[in-house]
Formats: sequence, structure tokens, C-alpha cells
Amino acid sequence: MKENISQLYHRAAAVVDLACIRHNLRVVRQKAPGRKIIAMVKANAYGHGLAQIGAHLATEGVDYLGAAFIEEALELRRAGISIPIITSGPFSKFQIGLFIENQIDFTVASVDALQLISESAAFYKKRVNVHLKVDTGMMRIGIRYSNAHQLFEAALKAEKHINVVSLFSHFASADSEDLSFAHLQLERFLEAASFYERHRLPKPLLQIANSAAILRIPESLLDMVRPGIMLYGYHPSKYSEAEVQLLPALSFRAKVMYFKVILKGSAVSYGGTWTAPKNCRAVTLPVGYGDGYSRGLSNKGQVLLNGRRYPVIGTVCMDQTVVNIGDGEAFNGDEAILIGKQGDEVITADDLAAQLGTINYEVLTGISQRVPRIFLNNVSN
Ligand SMILES: Cc1ncc(COP(=O)(O)O)c(C=O)c1O
Repeated sequence: MKENISQLYHRAAAVVDLACIRHNLRVVRQKAPGRKIIAMVKANAYGHGLAQIGAHLATEGVDYLGAAFIEEALELRRAGISIPIITSGPFSKFQIGLFIENQIDFTVASVDALQLISESAAFYKKRVNVHLKVDTGMMRIGIRYSNAHQLFEAALKAEKHINVVSLFSHFASADSEDLSFAHLQLERFLEAASFYERHRLPKPLLQIANSAAILRIPESLLDMVRPGIMLYGYHPSKYSEAEVQLLPALSFRAKVMYFKVILKGSAVSYGGTWTAPKNCRAVTLPVGYGDGYSRGLSNKGQVLLNGRRYPVIGTVCMDQTVVNIGDGEAFNGDEAILIGKQGDEVITADDLAAQLGTINYEVLTGISQRVPRIFLNNVSN
């Protein structure tokens, strides 16, 4: 298989194993049995390839795809995906028509936004699907939980043009060691949602659980869940790692394209931040921060090559990175692994995140559009 994959690209690639995504989705279903699933595919499906991952998850039977913005939702529609799509982020009033024409569900976070949507829906003679966002402590978007009834009442008044599919909220710290704030958020959310019972009205679906909550807070599963990072095979933080085994779906690869000997005392790359302490053998990989291999990995990163682990030397450039192979051997065309497995060695997005002082989410979403995505194990192939 190894030889086959490297024949599929020339320079660098993000190879996504769809069998891993299927495994991770099964884990979501085990942890949240019977719940509807909104599979989060925003930010290019966390770097894995928006349209292909969206199509795959739709085929696998998820109920909804979760985008952040209308542009992402439209890309999914252009790819021929017809299942419901929710956008979780804010939108401009000039985009409302696009939502309606393409049957994209709105996240509505204020009474003003609801009124604008209702007016446009009347113009289009349509009844549109909305999800009402309640802020229970994330303090990003959403109507404050204590005022949420104002938004619910406005939606009821606009019922001719507004169909409230769900009420939702988002956890700020379900991935932290201490879950007390997450429990408080859940309590606030359920209290706000009890408006419907108190007024003997049919209750919309309720949803709040992200990956961390799916893995750690069973009471928060409610009617629908919104897994993101776990679908791609990573844990939101170390606190859920013992729960289940997830399979990282993406490997980031590049081919050796230059070999050289660096003479003792020579400095490498921009700024000469690494100087050879003795003559050494090095290879140059045609990949850099323009591909999402962060400049922060200069003199820190490691790659796997011919089953061994070698250090990045000097500054990572936009398009190229130099690797010290010591007394090792490498030839042009050999495959280097920046994220993934080779032999017994493995480098994960968590490893890179630790070196960079960030989280696996940022490492994965940072792999740029310039890097071709290759998909393995699509059952419909
Ligand atoms: C509104 C919303 N729901 C769900 C998710 C998925 O979160 P996770 O990737 O931690 O599962 C996100 C991601 O940031 C989000 O913004």
C-alpha cells in the first residue's frame, strides 16, 4: 500500500483514510445512541477536504452537515450534497437570499437577525429552517440564556415564515479537567428551553454536545450531537483519551526532492538559525508554511523517513524545509511523513501542536488548500 500511496502524488499530499472516518463515526453512534448527528465539516472539514468528506459523511447517513459560513455550505451544495446543512457562524444580511435559495439552515442568534430572515422568507414565499442559538457561557454568539425567551417568542410570532428546528448552545470548556462550568451551561440551556414546556408548546430539538461532551458528559447528548474533531480521529483534549480509541484519518506527506552534504560550519536557511556542527547529510522537502507546515517548527519539527525520525534544521520556508538525516540514507522520491505513521514510528497532530503551543485542531485546519487531498478506502469507489 505504501508504494501505491506515494505514486498518487508528486510533491506533497494530505492522505485521508475514509475507513478511519467511518470508524470514528461508529464511535460517535456508540457514545450517542439514537441521537441525530450534525457532522461538523467547517474549515475544510478540519483540513481533510470539505466536499469529499461532506459527501462521505452524507453517504454514511449523518443527519446534518455543520458548516461555519454560507461559503462552505454553498461548496457542499455545489458538490451535489443534498442533506440538510446548518451554518453555525454569523452571516450578513446580504447573504440571506443565498441561504433561502440553497436551502441552508440558519443559526439565529438575535431577534434582529430573526426579523431580517422572516422578511426575506416572506419575500420568497417560503418557510425557512432556523436553529436558535442560546449563549450559556461561551460568550461568542447567541442570545443570553436569561433573555432567550425573547428570541423564542419572536420566532413564534414569525411562525408563518420561520420553522424552529432546534435550540442549541455551545460548551466553552467540556474539554477541561473541571467539568463544573459545562454542567452549569447545560443547566442554563435546559432552563431556557423549558420555556416550551411552560407554554405547552411543541419543543424544538435540543443540541449542545461537541466531541468533548459526547465523550464525557452523557447527560448533554439530548436530541442531536455535533461532533467535529473526534470524527477526524483526534481527542479534543487529553481528558477523554481513556474513553475510546479514535483513528486519526489524515497523514501529511512530502517527497524528498534534493539531497546534499552540509559542510561543518555552514548555516542553513533564512537567518542561518542552524549551523552544522560537523559535515552532515541533509534532504530538502518541497513543503513549507505555505502548505501549513508551520514556521514555528523551525529547528523543532521532526519527520519520518525510511522508518527513522529526523530533525528539521533551520527555518521552515514557505515552500521548502531542510531535514538533517545524519548518517542515514535517503533518495529523491523517498516519502517523508510529517504527520502519520511509518514503520513503528508515528507523528501526530498532537505532537506538532505540543511543539507549536497550540491544539491539534489548528494543526489540521492549517494544512493549506495548496496541498492535494487524496482519499483512500471510499467504499463507493
Ligand atoms: C458550534 C460548534 N459546534 C460543534 C463544534 C465541534 O467541536 P469539536 O470539534 O470540539 O467536536 C464546533 C467546533 O468548534 C462548533 O463551533
